[in-house]
Formats: sequence, structure tokens, C-alpha cells
Amino acid sequence: MRPTFLPYGRQSVEESDIQAVVDVLRSDWLTTGPKVAEFEEAFAARVGSAYAVSFSSGTAALHATSFAAGLKEGNEAITTPLTFAATANCVLYQGATPVFADVCPDTLNLDPEQVAKKITPKTRAILPVDYAGHPADLNAIVELARQHGAVVIEDACHALGAEYNRRKVGSIADMTVFSFHPVKHITTGEGGMVTTDNPQFAEVLRRFRNHGISSDARQRQSAGQWHYEMVLLGFNYRLPDFACALGIEQLKRLDANLQRRREIAARYSKALAEIRGVISPVVRPEANPAWHLYPIRLDLEKLTTDRAQIFRALRAENIGVNVHYIPVHLHPYYRDRFGYSGGEFPVAEDAYSRLISLPMFHAMSDQDVSDVIGAVAKVLSSYAR
Ligand SMILES: Cc1ncc(COP(=O)(O)O)c(C=O)c1O
Repeated sequence: MRPTFLPYGRQSVEESDIQAVVDVLRSDWLTTGPKVAEFEEAFAARVGSAYAVSFSSGTAALHATSFAAGLKEGNEAITTPLTFAATANCVLYQGATPVFADVCPDTLNLDPEQVAKKITPKTRAILPVDYAGHPADLNAIVELARQHGAVVIEDACHALGAEYNRRKVGSIADMTVFSFHPVKHITTGEGGMVTTDNPQFAEVLRRFRNHGISSDARQRQSAGQWHYEMVLLGFNYRLPDFACALGIEQLKRLDANLQRRREIAARYSKALAEIRGVISPVVRPEANPAWHLYPIRLDLEKLTTDRAQIFRALRAENIGVNVHYIPVHLHPYYRDRFGYSGGEFPVAEDAYSRLISLPMFHAMSDQDVSDVIGAVAKVLSSYAR
């Protein structure tokens, strides 16, 4: 057993990150200053989008996209139950209704065939999630959305750096949302970004994050103006300048981080192929995943116990496993408000009973990876049927 606890995810902060943040702390601008535009431009260039708009979190970014897509009371948005609650919550923030559709059995991403069954004249948006960093079935989803006049909001909080048919995630959907929470590929502490090629969406997103005001303080100062206009009901969802300075430095290491995550995933997949009772994540030919998570599925038919016991046994080995996700519709809030009781989304619910996320972060050492593989082999062999 390893002597120290290995978390499932963790940030990496280097001296150059700290220096960049300190430099901003010594400057005139703590909130919206020059680093915001610099980060947004670098980010847009990296994912190949025309615009990038930063936010104080991925959740705030999701809220803004559901506003920009025109979601409101009486509308519906179709999304996956196998995600973090924020994906569906952002629809509720706008007074619209989240409608869940089940996931594909291989990738656990939103299943376009199930989406098609849920489309109604009220459908205003489709929100695929790139689960674990594997891009959703974007061609089919974009096609469906085009047919029905819906907006595609891709929740790519797991998928910065992923590719789909050699196109970068962030340049495919109408709007794509990223998160910079510390367990993600790059971090700003809290933070998020929306990318889009649509200038109208970009403008609405910028206003929404700044109280609905049509210009920011810095623009007004440089123009020597006092006048501003609040043109829509927005929020304060701004990402501070020092957080953007951190993001700029972190973005420089994205490629190295992705490469390391791909190496770790390859080692896991090779080793787990030899272990009875476990199924590795599936990668479709058109996808180059970003490996935010490495979620294994237990082949419970080949084991003498359930997921909870395997989870506890791995934790007892100091391996910081986690579970992504409790299906959103099974949370008490969704059960109470919409009457879900389980059984509505059999693929997602069956996956949930088997899922365990192994540690996955770019700073993991080769020894860390070996420790995880060793612990999984040990625990599963002791429960093999
Ligand atoms: C799929 C997904 N969507 C949305 C979010 C929300 O992002 P944030 O934590 O930056 O608000 C997360 C966060 O972890 C996520 O995993």
C-alpha cells in the first residue's frame, strides 16, 4: 500500500505562474484589465474559435450560454443525466426546463438517437457534455440541432485540448464552455470560458458577465467617458486580471499536460486489459480525448461484490478514487421538482452503479500510476468471481 494518499485530481502551479500573478497584484488592475483580453485571445487562438469570453467559473459560463441561446420559461434544453449538476442547472437559472436523454453505452456521452426522441417544438438548445474528456457525438448533435432550429451548447469542462475528427473542441458547437477549476487541464483557481464563432453570442456573453452593461470600466476610462448603459439583466461573472494572468501561464503548458494525461491513460488501458472485472473507457476512432478523468466500469458480473466495496477497498489502499457522476435526475432537487424516481435512463443509471474514476492529473509520477494499477489489480483479484 502506498504511504501517502493520492488524490484523483490536482492542480500544478509553477514559479512562473506565481510570478505572473504577483506582477498583476502590483499593477493597477486587479479586476478587468489587460490580462483578460490577453487570456481570451490566447485561448481563442488555441482552440481555433473567433471569440473567447472569460467567466468567474464554468457554471457562470454555462449560465451565460443559456441566456445567449435565448432559453426562457416555456423552452426546453436537452442534456445528459451523466454530468455535474451545473450542466442542467444552467437551464433552470433561465426558467427553462432541462430534458434528459440517455447516454451511449460505449462513451457515456449523450446519445443522438435518444436526443431525437426528446425533441419537441419547445426545444431551444442541446447541451452535450464531453464526458471525461471524450468529445460527444458532435456531428450528429449539430445536425439534429440545425434541423430543429436549436442552439448547441457543448459543455467541454472536461475536454480542453480534445479533438473530434481532427477539429479542436471549442471550434465546433455554437458555444463551447470550459472550466478552470483546479482539477482541470489548466486552472485559474475558479474560472471558465465560452468560445464561439458567432459575434452576436460573443457580445451578449460579454454583457451578461458584466451586469448587462455595454462597455467595461477600462474601455470607458480610456475613452474618458462616464456614460454607460445597462442593456440586459446581467450578473457580475467577471474573471479577475490576476486569475487571467495565471490562466495565460497555465495555457502555455496545456500541450505538455495533455501529453502526460494521454501517457497515463495509455498505461492504464494497457494494464487494465489484463485485469478481470474491469472495463476501460472506450475511445471512438474520431476522438482524441483530453482525459480529464479516467472512469473505469466494474464488470460486476465477474465480481463477488459491488462498487461501494471496491471503492472503499481502493481508498484503503490510499488511492483517491471518485465517482463521476450521480445522475443529475436522481438528486433530491430534481426528484422533488420533476418527479424522477430512477429507471428513466437505464444506460446512465447502470453505468453509475459501476463507475469509479481513477486518479488522473498531469503531475502524476510513473510511480503514482504504478501504485494505482497495483491497487486495482490487488483489490479486484480479491473480489474475482
Ligand atoms: C461537466 C461539468 N460542467 C460544469 C462544471 C462547472 O464548472 P465550475 O466548477 O468551473 O463552475 C463542471 C465542474 O467541475 C463540470 O465537470
